[in-house]
Amino acid sequence: MIRMNAKDFDVKIFEKFDKDWALLTAGDYNDRNTMTISWGFMGTLYGKSVVCVFVRPNRHTYNLMEKYDRFTLSFMDEKYRDAMTFMGRNSGASIDKYKESGLEPIYDTDSGVSYIKGARYVMKLKKLYAAPLKEEYFIDKSLLKFYKEDLSDLHKMYIAEITSLLVNEE
Ligand SMILES: Cc1cc2nc3c(=O)[nH]c(=O)nc-3n(C[C@H](O)[C@H](O)[C@H](O)COP(=O)(O)O)c2cc1C
Repeated sequence: MIRMNAKDFDVKIFEKFDKDWALLTAGDYNDRNTMTISWGFMGTLYGKSVVCVFVRPNRHTYNLMEKYDRFTLSFMDEKYRDAMTFMGRNSGASIDKYKESGLEPIYDTDSGVSYIKGARYVMKLKKLYAAPLKEEYFIDKSLLKFYKEDLSDLHKMYIAEITSLLVNEE
């Protein structure tokens, strides 16, 4: 994989999460997990290139997001859609998702986290700011319908700096 400048990341940003999805991987070599995400955005904050993702506390990955300051996002090609769907429908709390999905984590000694083999793009990220969404802060209360009856488990927002962006040009 080749390292590129985040400022040259020339993709359709409103489709990158929503349509293409991403695989969020957190944890260390011995205890790591990956889940699919489709909520998120990229931009600039405090002069840094950042990504913001939203992880619900009932995800197994959430515990690893809380425990470690670094995580990765792997953006995959369309041929991985089934494996990504699997990663978004099953929990690492009860199964070995890598074994079952065929996706292979690659451990990155630099950052101490893993990313997914075959990814088109990999973002290595370092948390800058994290905060749970709170019911009282919703200006448009109709959005709370996403949580149905369970308002005790609103997503947590993580803003993270892109410390490195890798591209697979194969
Ligand atoms: C297309 C898709 C997008 C998803 N986006 C998110 C998201 O942005 N945030 C989130 O918390 N869960 C999201 N999920 C749900 C998690 O991926 C799912 O609950 C997963 O099983 C959690 O895995 P884990 O328990 O191993 O962490 C998404 C699922 C799918 C299929």
